[in-house]
Amino acid sequence: MHLRSVLQSYGFVFFFVVVRYAHGDLSYSVQEELKRGSVIGNIAKDLGLEVGRLSARKARVDMEGNDRQYIGINLRSGDLVVAERIDREEHCGEKPSCVLKFELLLENPLELHRLSLQVQDVNDNAPIFPKDTVKLEIRESADKGARYRINAAHDADIGKNSVESYILEQNPHFVFSIQTTSAGSRYGELVLDKELDREEQQEMKLLLTAVDGGSPQRSGTVVIHVIVLDANDNAPVFTEAVYTATLPENSPMKTPVTTVRASDADEGVNGEVTYEISRISDKSRNLFSLDEKTGEISVSGDIDYEEGPRYEVFVEAKDGYGLSSEAKVIIDITDVNDNAPVIHLKSLTNPIPENVSPGTEVGIINVQDRDSESNRQVRCSIQQGAPFKLVPSIKNYYSLVTTGQLDRELVSDYNITITATDEGSPPLSSSKSVQLSVADINDNPPVFEDQSYSAYVSENNKPGSTLCSVTARDPDWRQNGTVIYSVLPGEVNGAPVSSYVSVNGDTGVIHAVRSFDYEQLMSFKVQVMARDNGSPPLSSNVTVSVFVSDVNDNSPQILYPAPEGNSFMTELVPKAAHGGSLVSKVIAVDADSGQNAWLSYEIVKSTDPGLFTIGVHSGEIRTQRDISESDSMKQNLIVAVKDNGQPSLSATCSMYLLISDNLAEVPELKDISYDEKNSKLTSYLIIALVSVSTFFLTFIIIILGVRFCRRRKPRLLFDGAVAIPSAYLPPNYADVDSTGTLRSAYNYDAYLTTGSRTSDFKFVTSYNDNTLPADQTLRKSPSDFADVFGDSDGSPEVGTI
Ligand SMILES: *[C@@H]1O[C@H](CO)[C@@H](O)[C@H](O)[C@H]1NC(C)=O
Ligand SMILES: *[C@@H]1O[C@H](CO)[C@@H](O)[C@H](O)[C@H]1NC(C)=O
Ligand SMILES: *[C@@H]1O[C@H](CO)[C@@H](O)[C@H](O)[C@H]1NC(C)=O
Repeated sequence: MHLRSVLQSYGFVFFFVVVRYAHGDLSYSVQEELKRGSVIGNIAKDLGLEVGRLSARKARVDMEGNDRQYIGINLRSGDLVVAERIDREEHCGEKPSCVLKFELLLENPLELHRLSLQVQDVNDNAPIFPKDTVKLEIRESADKGARYRINAAHDADIGKNSVESYILEQNPHFVFSIQTTSAGSRYGELVLDKELDREEQQEMKLLLTAVDGGSPQRSGTVVIHVIVLDANDNAPVFTEAVYTATLPENSPMKTPVTTVRASDADEGVNGEVTYEISRISDKSRNLFSLDEKTGEISVSGDIDYEEGPRYEVFVEAKDGYGLSSEAKVIIDITDVNDNAPVIHLKSLTNPIPENVSPGTEVGIINVQDRDSESNRQVRCSIQQGAPFKLVPSIKNYYSLVTTGQLDRELVSDYNITITATDEGSPPLSSSKSVQLSVADINDNPPVFEDQSYSAYVSENNKPGSTLCSVTARDPDWRQNGTVIYSVLPGEVNGAPVSSYVSVNGDTGVIHAVRSFDYEQLMSFKVQVMARDNGSPPLSSNVTVSVFVSDVNDNSPQILYPAPEGNSFMTELVPKAAHGGSLVSKVIAVDADSGQNAWLSYEIVKSTDPGLFTIGVHSGEIRTQRDISESDSMKQNLIVAVKDNGQPSLSATCSMYLLISDNLAEVPELKDISYDEKNSKLTSYLIIALVSVSTFFLTFIIIILGVRFCRRRKPRLLFDGAVAIPSAYLPPNYADVDSTGTLRSAYNYDAYLTTGSRTSDFKFVTSYNDNTLPADQTLRKSPSDFADVFGDSDGSPEVGTI
């Protein structure tokens, strides 16, 4: 189809050309690129030649200077035809008109005609760019309006068929413009209409199309490869504006914290990012380090949550030519339970008076833990056993409170250990020792070691001698426990007690103030007070019984017979008395007691040594044998009475005995006493009378005694000495009942031994000593004896005599 329409249009041109070159050299016009055999013109007709002769004349066409046969002659018709493809551009290039010269040669006769063939251009060439691709490197920093030359396209055709216009592919950056040089040549320019951004588009390929004006139109394209060169127009950009990281405290050195990353869209040096810390607090300066290449932040110091729970680090990223940007790194430190609680003693009452009531606050404790959250929750406790507890108060304050009564005398110091434990995991704890002392209150009176004290002292002691010592203890402190002794005022025997004893106020040693006489005072009691020095003072009393013990300082005292020189009494001894008969009795007492009053009797001298004996302890004088006629009527005995003390003391007396049955024989008593020879008879009479009375009384007493004996055996041996009136006795005997002690009984009993059945009455009636007041004589009737003995019943010594 295409070919045919082309031919048709050529046919029209052909006709027009023939008309135009009808005269002169034969001139033809032909379109280039016609098909072989296409008719250009008719030579026969144009030259007036016979068609039939052409063959004979060997007509042919030669091109000047060229062996190629582009055109030929159809010898049968005389047509000039295209013999070979004719390319105008081959022969004429860009020349605006293209005329090819031919010669027509005829023989028989030789004939030469010149033919010129005008070759018409046909749009058979497309515009062509010199290269398929044009590479342009444009710096992105290039300004708007910058121009970049592009070689123009070439179209071998001429005229309208050559390049007419250029079309640049739609793009945001470039436009295309055609320029003509002064020399008339044309070139294209790529004009920057909008700045480039390498980071947005690193390169672009633009298709530039050149079109000619032929018909049909032909075109050629070139690819303009624009490479955008980098300019350092981009600062590094961090991947995040704020980086956050958490880091446990106490993380070791070089622990990575986080890595910041900034990218720089630029290339090469322009895109080489380095990091550095731009702003950091002084505190954290040494804690973190930043790797300038990798952007890794790591630990370079001791991270302590308590020093700072959060750090802000500003990191700058810089590219090679110094564009920079900044990002913030927030590092949150997480708490680790690395702080033990700390116990502060805020106040302490020390010492604590021991009388504070339970529940008294004695101290305030504050507990702190520098950790946070549960690591700082602290529990406080106190060791068991001490009377204290901790009472939680506001916040982390605790009151130390007593839980019981304090007693300094039991526990004077407390070491209280307070332990605080936090709730971390693992928990940490710490403890604090609090020393508390208890202050004394004078709450204890002095207490004597013994409930009562007894002191024993021999009579006749030296004044000032030590009797005993009392000790009282007071567990209180210092003056509250300092004991001072004193004797409480009182009376002993009507005299102030202070005249008897004194006490050393400091030592409690009790001294005798005077010399004691056992016979006057056998014992007494003193109240001693121990008082402390507190305010008010406390005291306690104790009884000290002082017992005076006997010393043999009294010699025996002979009551009967009356001491020598005073006596006028004489005993009658019946002539018929058999051996062993009781004749008389020596009665003696000793004011001392015990062994000191244990009397023994001895005849030291007698008229007839073989006739009488005396009971060693009874003092009874008995006949040793029957009286015989030959015995002297008057017998004289000297009796010694000794006590048993060490050394022993003694007394002697004389006794006169008259051996006679007949009162008439009895001389005047007075005579016996004063003058034996003159008063013999009187004496005998009296003696007889007395003896009878004595025997009678003795008889009654024995009967009474037997009756008592049946009921109360110990009284059996009683010999009637009770008749001796108490008023006679030495003063200390009067005290016997009051003390009731063993010692007292001793005295009493010793006294009793001195009596004798036979002599009592005689003694009572005959004794005329001044010490025996008349009105007290024999006050007791026989019937009273029972009572008297009842009283002395407790005396064990009675039975042993
Ligand atoms: C209390 O502790 C101190 C020293 O820490 C010690 O000398 C004292 O004996 C302790 N007291 C008690 C009652 O444990
Ligand atoms: C003695 O006790 C009193 C209170 O009774 C007290 O005030 C005083 O301090 C105590 N003295 C000493 C030395 O402890
Ligand atoms: C001790 O005796 C004195 C004097 O009689 C008295 O005032 C004081 O209260 C007594 N003390 C005691 C503890 O009985």
